[in-house]
Amino acid sequence: MCGIVGYTGSDTAAPLLLEALRRLEYRGYDSAGIAALAGDHLGLVRAVGKLDNLAARLAEQPLAGTCGIGHTRWATHGGVTEANAHPHSADGRIAVVHNGIIENYAALRAELEAAGANFASQTDSEVLAHLFAAGFAKGLGPLAVLQGVLARIEGAWALAAVSLDAPGVIMIARNASPLAVGLADGFSLIASDASAMAQNCGQVLYLKDDDYGLVTPAGPQIYDRNNQPANREALRISASPVMVDKAGYRHFMEKEIHEQPDSVAHTLAAMTGPDGQLTAGLQTAQLKAVSGLVLLAAGTSHYAALIGKYWIERLAGLPVAVELASEYHYRQPVAGPFSHALVISQSGESLDTLMAMRHAAAMGLQTLGLVNVPDSTIAREAEAVLPTRAGPEIGVASTKAFTAQLTVLFAVALALGRTHGRLEKQQAGQLHEAVLTMPGAIGRALSCVPQIQQIAKQLVLSHSVLFLGRDLLYPLALEGALKLKEISYLHAEGFAAGEMKHGPIALIEPGLPVIGLVSQDALQAKTISNLREAEARGADLYLISCGAAGEQVDFARQIVEMPACNPLLAPLLLAIPAQILAWQAALEKGTDVDQPRNLAKSVTVE
Ligand code: AGP
Repeated sequence: MCGIVGYTGSDTAAPLLLEALRRLEYRGYDSAGIAALAGDHLGLVRAVGKLDNLAARLAEQPLAGTCGIGHTRWATHGGVTEANAHPHSADGRIAVVHNGIIENYAALRAELEAAGANFASQTDSEVLAHLFAAGFAKGLGPLAVLQGVLARIEGAWALAAVSLDAPGVIMIARNASPLAVGLADGFSLIASDASAMAQNCGQVLYLKDDDYGLVTPAGPQIYDRNNQPANREALRISASPVMVDKAGYRHFMEKEIHEQPDSVAHTLAAMTGPDGQLTAGLQTAQLKAVSGLVLLAAGTSHYAALIGKYWIERLAGLPVAVELASEYHYRQPVAGPFSHALVISQSGESLDTLMAMRHAAAMGLQTLGLVNVPDSTIAREAEAVLPTRAGPEIGVASTKAFTAQLTVLFAVALALGRTHGRLEKQQAGQLHEAVLTMPGAIGRALSCVPQIQQIAKQLVLSHSVLFLGRDLLYPLALEGALKLKEISYLHAEGFAAGEMKHGPIALIEPGLPVIGLVSQDALQAKTISNLREAEARGADLYLISCGAAGEQVDFARQIVEMPACNPLLAPLLLAIPAQILAWQAALEKGTDVDQPRNLAKSVTVE
């Protein structure tokens, strides 16, 4: 999603800003730009498409100046054009970058145009540039101008602005969209994502909602919503240079798929208490206090939540509701039997999920954040954090974060089952042993790449693909379809296999690829029967199974057989071939594996 960077110091800003934008590239964007103050000149360069296009423009038209801002834009208001790219300027003296939505932009634009302003873009963000210009035109200083702008706007923002009327100063503000200031000697950085500053600063401070301030080479001066100076705590940056390293793989997604034996093992280690039991990092009293859970998440994290619900209900006997974060806080949910909200997010920054968490907290639920980015907003606002130890995930399509989320959710289910007396000691011990075998099983599962490559070659010839599974493998069918859609742009749908006869079976036609997900669970025979119904109507069946479940099937075109595992853990294992299938289909189609069209890694708008 959109990214903001800024630099003020004594070096030339533009190359540093371009480098910082490259570290945000993984978030997804469709245009980019940089502005810098050089004496009495404001330089501005923008380009549609990848950062290489911006770099080429900068090579033709280098930007001087030691104070500047940069932006990667993911289009919301207005198409993907150079005019809509940030930074926006109003009068050649001010440049502004903005993440979020200015909800009252239409009224502001009408008012500014009536006063003579000429707008150059279709964006909501450009009103900011005109508001800043109007403030400086009155002769106000940067702090007063910024306060004046903030008093006029409604919506969500992380914003940064530089002006020829305030040399060396970056004006910043935050409301609902993340923004951080990097602390260093002799220069200052700002960014919407601390990873953009990790190379240059050891520490950052995060703005809170409604914070604003001025940043100079000497550091930031931040004010809170009551206009009082605010001392925000400086934190160490956890992101590392490894983020931009593909470690010899062609794509980050490929690397991240192959990291899963380690990421699941590391996450398991983090979930293990000092006595060697899986505690999910929670104290016994905390676990006993859980009477029911609402799981809040979006996208792939939502599918992890669905699997978590099956586990927690089955192993702990506690009520669990899974909610799409984007729906939750708008539909007046009731707290019901739930004591806790478990908020699941790889990035920890999805705005829908953050707002759902705040809504749950306002209803009196205790909030637990299950996040992969330890210093993210959700991690900082949740009452307790359950970390996934997947390491930075750069590919837009979530892979290792998903399996790490499943690992945590299984640990939560097991820990709750033990403390609520649903699981006998021996049962809990067996399940613990079973999950400890998963890193090894996932490692062996990775050897299916050549076989899946052959299946992918067939899939991309089709206009659509169905994924079918039952029970714990139903949410995985949804996730398998999402992965395929996201990066290969092939239409795909996941269904509960038992639901086919209630409608979706009408989609089956000769040659339609159907991916069946089967394990040796109690519903194995029923799933196979549902798959046979599809095959009998002409579908080409490809089976992904574990523990020899596929031996019962003699009507599949191919069977991808995974190692044996406890059927409860099948979604964790079968996720691997499902991810590999999407990756291989994308390679066949030649799409952008790591930065698929229209998508962003961290979705910070509604
Ligand atoms: C996953 O492949 C997707 N890119 C997307 O669905 C993602 O899971 C969703 O946007 C939620 O993100 P989060 O986990 O960072 O909150």
